[in-house]
Amino acid sequence: MSSKDNTEQKRGSAFGWALFGGSAIGVFGLGLLASSISSRRAESDVARVAFTSEIPAWEADNAKWGESFPREYNSWEATKAMNDNTKYGGSGHRDYLEDNPKLVIMFAGYGFSKEFYQARGHFHAVEDVTNTERVGENTPGTCWTCKSPDVPRVMDERGGPADFYSDKFMALKSEIKNPIGCADCHNNETMALQVSRPALAEAFERQGKDINKVSHQEMRTLVCAQCHVEYYFKGKEEKYLTFPWDNGLTVENFEQYFAETGHVDWTHAVSGAKMVKMQHPDYEVYMQGVHAFQGVSCADCHMPYKSEGGVKFTDHKVQSPLYNIANSCQVCHKWSETEVKDRVTSIQDKNREIQTLVEEAITRAHLEIGDTAKAGATDEELDEIRKMISLAQMYWDYVAANNGMGFHAPQETARILGKSLNFAKDCRIEIVKLRAGMGLGDYTLPDISTEDSAKAFVAGTIEAKKAAAAPSESKAS
Ligand code: HEC
Ligand code: HEC
Ligand code: HEC
Ligand code: HEC
Repeated sequence: MSSKDNTEQKRGSAFGWALFGGSAIGVFGLGLLASSISSRRAESDVARVAFTSEIPAWEADNAKWGESFPREYNSWEATKAMNDNTKYGGSGHRDYLEDNPKLVIMFAGYGFSKEFYQARGHFHAVEDVTNTERVGENTPGTCWTCKSPDVPRVMDERGGPADFYSDKFMALKSEIKNPIGCADCHNNETMALQVSRPALAEAFERQGKDINKVSHQEMRTLVCAQCHVEYYFKGKEEKYLTFPWDNGLTVENFEQYFAETGHVDWTHAVSGAKMVKMQHPDYEVYMQGVHAFQGVSCADCHMPYKSEGGVKFTDHKVQSPLYNIANSCQVCHKWSETEVKDRVTSIQDKNREIQTLVEEAITRAHLEIGDTAKAGATDEELDEIRKMISLAQMYWDYVAANNGMGFHAPQETARILGKSLNFAKDCRIEIVKLRAGMGLGDYTLPDISTEDSAKAFVAGTIEAKKAAAAPSESKAS
């Protein structure tokens, strides 16, 4: 085994050297070396997989798997750690609404306007979904899908996913105990990587692809794509978890998909626009970046190799790679730690700069549309304007909801934010015209400078709309 490890290390440094070669041959070689690195990894891994006790199919208790694989188990358990945040990511628990009250306006009338925390490690998945204010009595069972290995177990017991999705979140609560773990990604007999969630396999099938015929290196990404993707719940009763990938993975493909299906997530409480929420299209954005192009998988950066007592294994502490630059990045890039960190944050700073401009334009547009409607503009007059703001926000959200703050595909996210800003500005030109025609002056923004003042504004707007819609008591009597 140690000779294998040596070969691998040599290849690792050859790879790093080739990266700086820069010649056409070097670039071609990169692809080959990258794939040979990963296939070598696979070989040495399989050799080490030895069960000390049998694991039944769909065993959801991570500790049971840990008996055979203590190193992987211990590193998996370490995802409960909460370190100081990195500049934009990290395992802390940022309160996005407090940091950026404009989000309260942008999501008005939807759960994310009430509470919106940054994600943290896999260990916390069940606890976090149970405690959020965003779930209630009407929440569908579908919301459990990406939280626990109890999910494929219960789906199996119920003969498929349909019955699971259409059940209620609260009804399933007693069944779902274990946070994201071994059975989500591994086969119980061979420890091979496997896809446990039907939605991913079904999305592949609808595109004419077979999930069982992908390379091992792709599997090191696809296990993550079971959850780190854009999705929606199809059907009022069915709530069937569906990835909107039929036309492709870009935001334009999603725009077309949702236009065709007519799916809407909520009606905006201030502007009245029909909105589609993007979830976290991490896989989709990653697929448009240079690392995907070069065959670098999610696991290469987020689950690098680690050595303990001379044994090399996969670090299951899935986290921001900036906590572990040596193993995550420096195996391929011969830049210093500071250089890597600066490179990443400078990409993210630029992304944030455009994102903030877009947020200002969209927030203002929602408020202006709301005010113009209050002043008597008809739904017909506002129809096109509302469509433009929905589109602007959907494009923005494809980037904003994506994890990594633009790192995974910087050019693509900049392009999308550019289009989003354009939609929002076009929308504002039309509102200003409409307001001028109605003899309305400039709109003065309310105080939305803090989470509380923004929430108070949204609550006041919802109250006022309710009062205007209900027949007034004095008229009735
Ligand atoms: C080339 C390395 C690389 C690859 C490949 C990669 N990522 Fe990342 N990822 C990063 C970096 C760097 C960050 C930014 C971390 C930060 O800001 O602290 C990040 C951030 C994230 C975050 C947010 C982490 C946090 O702490 O906020 C998630 C979730 C994530 N990536 C998921 C994925 C998924 C899923 C894939 C594959 C579809 C993937 N990544 C592929 C490097 C990578
Ligand atoms: C999010 C997906 C994911 C989860 C959850 C997960 N693993 Fe893994 N695991 C991987 C990946 C990716 C590899 C690398 C496999 C490869 O390239 O062949 C791996 C490799 C392994 C290996 C092979 C040896 C090694 O270290 O490379 C073992 C054993 C293992 N995991 C055990 C576990 C155990 C035990 C748990 C639960 C405590 C677990 N895994 C949870 C994705 C996962
Ligand atoms: C079964 C669904 C599922 C799978 C499979 C999965 N994740 Fe996650 N991941 C989540 C959820 C849910 C969270 C948020 C947990 C929380 O906040 O409580 C999360 C959180 C994370 C975070 C931490 C984000 C942060 O801001 O700190 C990273 C990084 C991450 N995942 C990367 C990956 C990678 C890489 C893979 C594949 C190797 C993967 N995940 C596989 C569902 C999943
Ligand atoms: C398995 C090898 C591998 C790993 C691991 C890896 N990279 Fe890369 N990275 C590449 C390759 C290959 C390229 C493309 C180089 C090229 O085409 O010139 C690249 C390109 C880049 C670029 C230039 C991006 C652009 O758009 O031009 C940055 C920045 C980068 N990587 C950062 C990172 C960071 C940060 C990490 C760790 C989180 C990381 N990489 C991990 C192989 C890797």
